[in-house]
Amino acid sequence: MKKYIIRGPNKAVKGEVDISGAKNSCLPLMAASILFKKKVTLKNVPFVKDVLTMKDLLVALGSKVDFSESKKIMTINNKKNHKLVVPYNLVSTMRAGVLTMGPLLARYPNKKIQTSLGGGCSPGIRDTNWHLAGFKSLGASNNLEKGYVNLLAKKGLIGSKYKFPKVTVTGTSNLIMASTLAKGSHVIKNISIEPEVIDLINFLNNSGADIKFIGKRSIKIIGVKELLSGSHKIIGDRIEAFSYLCVGAITKGSIKVININPKFLPSELKTLKKIGYEINVNKNSIKLNTSKKLKPVNIKTGPWPEFATDCLPILIPVLTRIFGQSKIKETIFTNRFMAVPELNRMGADIKIYKNFAVINGEKKLNSADCISSDLRTTFSIILGAIAAKGSSTISRIYHGLRGYSNLQPKLKNLGIKVKMKT
Ligand code: EPU
Repeated sequence: MKKYIIRGPNKAVKGEVDISGAKNSCLPLMAASILFKKKVTLKNVPFVKDVLTMKDLLVALGSKVDFSESKKIMTINNKKNHKLVVPYNLVSTMRAGVLTMGPLLARYPNKKIQTSLGGGCSPGIRDTNWHLAGFKSLGASNNLEKGYVNLLAKKGLIGSKYKFPKVTVTGTSNLIMASTLAKGSHVIKNISIEPEVIDLINFLNNSGADIKFIGKRSIKIIGVKELLSGSHKIIGDRIEAFSYLCVGAITKGSIKVININPKFLPSELKTLKKIGYEINVNKNSIKLNTSKKLKPVNIKTGPWPEFATDCLPILIPVLTRIFGQSKIKETIFTNRFMAVPELNRMGADIKIYKNFAVINGEKKLNSADCISSDLRTTFSIILGAIAAKGSSTISRIYHGLRGYSNLQPKLKNLGIKVKMKT
C-alpha cells in the first residue's frame, strides 16, 4: 500500500498550482452521458481514481469510453443499449456510482434498473432516500432486493413536482438527469446550487435539454424527446484550489492557484481574509499572501454559497498554527473530524464535541506516523505533516488519490519534500 513520507517543517511556501477539473463536476457529467444516444466529449477531465472508477462503471454498463490523460479529454459513446445492473463492486468503492440511477431511469423508464447502494468516502451517513423520493415524484417505484434498489416506472416518467427536505448535491443532479427526458415538466424545489450542479445544468441545456431557474433554489425541467450528443469543458476544482491555498496559509507563505473561478469559493475566501490572509483574485486565479497578523475564526459549514464541508478538514490544520481559539461547526455530515486524532498525535490541541470542534491554536506540530481514512482527511494530514518538524508517514494515501490529481508532483513543485513509498 502506497505511503507518503513528508519532511517538515516547510516554511513560507511559495508557488503556483494549476488546478484540475472538478471531480464532483466530472462524475455527474460522465453519468449524464447515459442520457445521450451519440457521442459526449468532456474536456478538462481530472486524472483521479474516482474518474477511473466511473469510467469502469460506464464500460460495465455498455458505454465505450476513451480517456486521454495527457489531453484531459474523455469521449463516451452510447450507441448500444445499456445493461441495467449497476454492480456492487464498483459502487462500493465510490458513492458517486449512484449518479447512474437518474440517467438510466430516464433512458429506460419502463425496464427494471438495479443499483447497488453505498460505498465511497465516509464523512458520515450518506442516505439516498431523497433521490428515491424524487424518482417517485416522476412515477418510478423502488424496492430493495438483495442489497440492490430496483427502480421501475411502468407508465414512463411523468413530470410533476418535488421539494427536497434538505439540500443534497448528488440527489439534485440525479433528479435533474431523471427529469430531462420525462413527459411534461417537472418542478424541483430546494435544490443544491453548488457550482458543480450548475455545471451539469449548463452542459445539459447546451446539449438540447430545457432546464430553467424559477427561483433561487427552484427549477423547471421541460422534458425533451432525446439528447443526441454534447461537448463540455469541466469547471476548475474549488476544493483542490482551497487545499493548495492552505499550503500557503499553514506555512505563512504565498500561493497562487490558476484555472479556478474565485466566485466558486465565496465563504472560503472570506474566511481566509477574516483570519488575516491577503487574498487577491483575478477572473481565473486566486493568490494568497501572508503579511499581517493572523487571528482565529468561528465558522459553520453549509450548502453553497456557505463554507463547504469538504474544506473543513483542510482548514483545521491551518487553525492549529494560529494563536487563539477557533470554533468550527459541521452541519452536513456526521463524521467530518477524522483527521483530528492524527493532528492531535502531531501535537495539535483540538477538542471535538459531536459536530463541533474547538481548536486551541499556535501549537508546534511534530512529525508522526499517520493513517488516512478518507479523501479530504488525507489532505488535512498532509498539511499537518508539511508544518510538522521531522519526517511524517501517511499511510493509505490512496484515499487522497481518489480526488487529487497529480498530488505528489504538485506538492513537489511547491518545494515540499514528499516521497512515495510502497
Ligand atoms: N442525505 C440524506 N438523504 C439523501 C441524500 C442526502 O439524508 O437522499 C443527507 C446526507 O446523509 C448528508 C446530507 O444530506 O448528511 C448532504 O449530502 P449530499 O447528498 O449533499 O452529499 P453527496 O451528494 O453524497 C456531494 C459530494 C461530496 C460533498 C457533499 C456535500 C459528490 C460526488 N460528492 O456528496 O464530496 O462532501 O456533496 O457538499 O459530488 C468529496 O469530494 O470528498 C465529497 C465527499
